[in-house]
Amino acid sequence: MPITYLEQEKIFKLDTAGSTYVVQVFDQGILLCPYYGAKIPDTPFDGFCFRDWFSSFSPSNASVTSGSYSSDVFPLEYSGFGVGDFRKTAVAIRNADGNNCTDFRYVSHRIYAGKPKLKDLPATYANTGDECTTLEILTRDNTTGAEATLIYTVFEKLSAMTKSVRIANTSDCAMDIEKVYSASVSLNDMDYDMYHLYGRWNAERNMSVSKLEHGHTSISSTRGSSSHYHNPFAALVRHGAGEDQGEVYGFNLVYSGNFDITADCDYYETTRVNIGINPDGFTWHLDAGEEFQTPEAVLVYTNEGLGEMSRIFHRLYMNNLIRGKYKTEKRPLLINSWEAAYFDFNTDKLVSFAERAKEVGIEMLVMDDGWFGVRNSDNCSLGDWYVNEDKLPGGLGVLIDRVNALGLKFGIWYEPEMISPDSDIYRAHPDWCLHVPNRDKSIARRQYVIDMSREDVRDNIFGQMYDVLSKYKIDYVKWDFNRNLTEAGSALLGAPHGEEIFHRFVLGTYDLMNRLTTAFPDILLENCSGGGGRFDPGMLYYSPQIWASDNTDALERIAIQFGTSMCYPASTMGAHVSMSRRTGFATKGNVAMWGTFGYELDPNRLSEKDVELVKEQVKEYHRTYDLIHYGDLYRVTCPWENSYRSSWEFVAPDKSEMLYTDVTLRYYHCMKYIVRFKGLDPEKIYRLDGTEQRYSGAFLMNAGLNLSRYPHSTGDSFTLHFYAE
Ligand code: DGJ
Repeated sequence: MPITYLEQEKIFKLDTAGSTYVVQVFDQGILLCPYYGAKIPDTPFDGFCFRDWFSSFSPSNASVTSGSYSSDVFPLEYSGFGVGDFRKTAVAIRNADGNNCTDFRYVSHRIYAGKPKLKDLPATYANTGDECTTLEILTRDNTTGAEATLIYTVFEKLSAMTKSVRIANTSDCAMDIEKVYSASVSLNDMDYDMYHLYGRWNAERNMSVSKLEHGHTSISSTRGSSSHYHNPFAALVRHGAGEDQGEVYGFNLVYSGNFDITADCDYYETTRVNIGINPDGFTWHLDAGEEFQTPEAVLVYTNEGLGEMSRIFHRLYMNNLIRGKYKTEKRPLLINSWEAAYFDFNTDKLVSFAERAKEVGIEMLVMDDGWFGVRNSDNCSLGDWYVNEDKLPGGLGVLIDRVNALGLKFGIWYEPEMISPDSDIYRAHPDWCLHVPNRDKSIARRQYVIDMSREDVRDNIFGQMYDVLSKYKIDYVKWDFNRNLTEAGSALLGAPHGEEIFHRFVLGTYDLMNRLTTAFPDILLENCSGGGGRFDPGMLYYSPQIWASDNTDALERIAIQFGTSMCYPASTMGAHVSMSRRTGFATKGNVAMWGTFGYELDPNRLSEKDVELVKEQVKEYHRTYDLIHYGDLYRVTCPWENSYRSSWEFVAPDKSEMLYTDVTLRYYHCMKYIVRFKGLDPEKIYRLDGTEQRYSGAFLMNAGLNLSRYPHSTGDSFTLHFYAE
């Protein structure tokens, strides 16, 4: 059983294939997390060791009688503010009397097969009843009447689990939730580095490594979106562990708004990790009888290094997060007009792209920004989602018919959460943007943010999108989001609900995405936020792929793609070949092939030589599609470890095939370059494609091959494809 309750010990044991998480009901119903780590058997179970040496500055609770307990020292499972735990607590609720002491104690539990949906929120799901098991622990703060249901789901075979919390106000008075993390995890030591992904526009998800020290190590967002700047992912990596070995705890929040991940190391050298909505700028008013559901945190433990952690996240997200037709169906190979034309296009130009694209084997034309209102630059028309007939005479129907007649599918761009001050919609509804009365509005990219918390606003935007998407044959939508939230206020949301706006905005976005994907289940939705500014699991629930970055330079993309691969599978990562100057077409293709491959250029400007290369790439794309989209990723040489080269592999799940890609970031004189490959079957014999060279998997993984004769100048790259015989 993946979840067992050991009655005598009052212990819940949550087991995956490789990990055990323990929750213990301690004296007075206090919940503890005495263990999370490598799998341990059910018996014998004499008890865990707790720190029981502390001074009078660490208080106990008067009603606790057993042993030497202090709420400041024990590994509390979901610790409340103000009742003796001076570490970073997981929850604080202010009651009608103005006090925010919070103390949840065990009431009851239930264990069942499957997984509940989270109200209004994206979350992992079960495909079949036996795929996962859920434990719900009901806890209650008797003083206030607040209840917290701690929800745990174990995906046993995938070695992953999820946690979220539902707060219910069972009292007669209103209360305000000041913070409510999705998960709190206690570890017995602090011998870890925190790996996390930082970045900015055009340089998302770089790896950053910080050694945990006494005090707090945090990453967060207050931008209203998960953001370019930090991704809602962190891994605690035990000192000495690395890509292929050692203990790693991975955390990822299924949420697209303000988040916080904090590791708090206390004076007893223990670590608590809290992950959830950022309390900064958040308060949720809960009237009597109301409930609040947190987003879901995904937890992965492995003792096989960061690489295995990533593969666990990838499998979970491909199987149990991504939905819809394109979860399994092959995605069309696309060309996007943005870097080819920016705002300067018309029907004939787009059709000329489609004609040339057709010749090289591309399957879909995506018309990016600039097709609506009177938009010829980024200074107007967001929110006016009707076609600009000056650019597209006769309307979208004429263009789409001509593209379809060539045998290509057609895609279109939207930025539904934005509104231009220079737009018909804003002139008619100036209160439809986020704003605070009598306060200047910040502007970015000459646009405001639309008030997604309002149902009437969402109805309008959905109605406009529906008119276009239901009338024409549109196969793909790119959903963009090009600025962050400021003056986050809503005309409809006064006190005491003012600080709910950031979360309500995210819920509104999810609602609109849900309406869109429900009304148009065959449309392939690709998310985007000025490149990869909202690349998170929340978005993946609605769109199976996300544009990874506006940076299409193949060499700079490498760090972005390596970082993204920490928890997001290749099949989710939008990656295109562009006209960027620094490398040749072969390397651009080899790098973009890692993701949802496509083109972002004017195909009429390709030289004849490059046209032939593109045709080769298209063949290679089809040949390796399944391997890359459904295979296992092995990072061989990571940019954070080696600034000269990067390399990676995709291995088929049955180990019958492996594709190795190697890129030189900086030239060096290479006399000996031996690569030991990963993830193969040691018993199988592999043939290097295009040669008669044969090697056992054991040879390739242990002795390796000397690759010094392959090209190694800056920007060079090569691939090696091995097939098992
Ligand atoms: C930002 C996106 O990342 C680009 O790909 C493009 O769609 C532009 N926005 C359009 O404004």
